[in-house]
Parts: sequence; structure tokens; C-alpha cells
Amino acid sequence: MSDTGLLRGKVVIVTGAGKGIGAAAARLCASEGANLVLAGTTLQSLEVVAQEIRRAGGRAECFRVDVSDADATSAMVVFCLEHFGQLDGAFNNAGIDGPLAPTADYPEADFDRVMDVNVKGVWNCMRFQIPAMLASGGGAIVNCASSLSEVGQYNMAAYCASKAAVLGLTRTAGLEYGPRGIRVNALSPGVTETSMMKDQMAIVEGLRDSLLQAEPIGRLAQPEEIAQPVAWLLSDRSSYAVGANFVVDGGYLVK
Ligand SMILES: NC(=O)c1ccc[n+]([C@@H]2O[C@H](COP(=O)([O-])OP(=O)(O)OC[C@H]3O[C@@H](n4cnc5c(N)ncnc54)[C@H](O)[C@@H]3O)[C@@H](O)[C@H]2O)c1
Repeated sequence: MSDTGLLRGKVVIVTGAGKGIGAAAARLCASEGANLVLAGTTLQSLEVVAQEIRRAGGRAECFRVDVSDADATSAMVVFCLEHFGQLDGAFNNAGIDGPLAPTADYPEADFDRVMDVNVKGVWNCMRFQIPAMLASGGGAIVNCASSLSEVGQYNMAAYCASKAAVLGLTRTAGLEYGPRGIRVNALSPGVTETSMMKDQMAIVEGLRDSLLQAEPIGRLAQPEEIAQPVAWLLSDRSSYAVGANFVVDGGYLVK
């Protein structure tokens, strides 16, 4: 099963693991030797990923969670400890983009939902993962932000605000828990070909072309390319990375 054994013996939770970046990260972490809890809103899609991991010789258990729900998120960590006895790593990846609308017209209910999932969801994950990691002797947390955590984007006020807030949560937790053996970092992917982006590209005419034009590397990312830094950040090889934002965006932000 193990590729390089980067995560051999570690127990890792991935939220939003049923598809897209989360599924790619879960597959890679398993191939690097981690035991996985795959968490997300749809058990069926989580099970598909878990079956692939088990067929390849890995261990994966599935847990249904809405990360905006504190009780359910706490139960996810308890489930992990019951199955694997420890928690060493977490990729807090679950997120939504929300509808597209100018700032003044953004629907309030959608604004609240984006914040609940993307910001409160990350905080919920961390506040239950951190005590479990302290009990296991330390760990590593990777929170999924976005290249849009650093810049604005038309019609995406809630999403941009939520991802900037993920950096605030990450920096603060990095400061607080780095000295206690838990490294908290953020990963900021650029435009990645997942259903989140494909859905937007299907709605907004010309979006794909304009996104491609904005990418110095001349193409969009594949989820597997975003998974690589996740595995590294969860591993002991990133031992000096604390509270940082790792941008993996094909050069979008430096253009
Ligand atoms: N695709 C991109 O271009 C891109 C770019 C930058 C950042 N991101 C971020 O990467 C992460 C993954 O995005 P993706 O593109 O793979 O999206 P996706 O829509 O393909 O997958 C998101 C996953 O999160 C799960 N999820 C959604 N709400 C949830 C909730 N409340 N509780 C638990 N699980 C929930 C979904 O079920 C799904 O499995 C998100 O945080 C997203 O904001 C994506």
C-alpha cells in the first residue's frame, strides 16, 4: 500500500473526503501509510473512496458529518478515537462556494451558510481535534483555504471572506499550539478541476477561458496535485512549518 511511507502509522481525518480535493488527499494519505477517517455529508460517496483504499490494502472508516454542527464534529473525533485509538493529522477540507452575487445583493442565508461551513466548520474541527492530538502527543492540522483568501473575486464576497478567516484561525491556532506539538497550517489551492469548479464553469459563460488566462502555468490544477502538499504538511517532514499559508495556485497570485 505504502508509496514512500510518508504517513506510516498515522491516523488522519479528512473532511469533505467523498470527492474532489478531499478524496484525492485521502487516497494519497492512505497510499502513504495513514489510517483514515473519511468524513463528509454523503456516506455513499465516502464509501466509494473507502472501498478503493481498502482494495489497495489500506484502512479507512467513514463518518457522516456536517462540520457546521458542533455535536456532529465532536462525534467525528470520538469515532476516530474509538476506531483507531489516536489522532495524528487532520485535513479540514470541507467547504462550499455559495451562489455568485455582488456584495450588496448577496443573499443573507447563503452568506451565513458559507460562513457556517467554511469558517465555523474549520473551527469546530480544530476545537475537537486539538485535545485529541494533545492526548496523542501532538499532530498536524491542515486547513483548506484558497488563493481567494488573499485577493477579492467578483461575486464571491462570502467565499473570499470565509477563506481569509480560515487564515486567521490557522495563524492563531498555529501560534497557540505549535509550542505544544501541534502544527497548524493552511493550504491555498488555486482553481482546481473538481465538481465545485465544474459547476461554476457550467453556469458562467466564458469562465473557463478567463480562469485559464489568469493562470501563469496555463492550465487548471488537478485534485491530485493539491493532495501532494497536504500529505507533506501532515507528515513529520514539514516539521518547521507553523501557522503558514501554503499557496499552490500555478502562479495566480504572483501575476
Ligand atoms: N476547486 C477549487 O478550485 C478550489 C480552489 C481553492 C480552494 N478550494 C477549497 O477546497 C476544498 C474542497 O473543494 P473541492 O473543489 O474539492 O469541492 P467539492 O465540492 O468537489 O468537494 C467538497 C466536499 O466537501 C463536502 N462538504 C460540503 N459541505 C460540507 C459540510 N457542511 N460538512 C462536511 N462536508 C461538507 C462535500 O460533500 C464534498 O465532498 C473546499 O474547502 C474549497 O473551498 C477549492
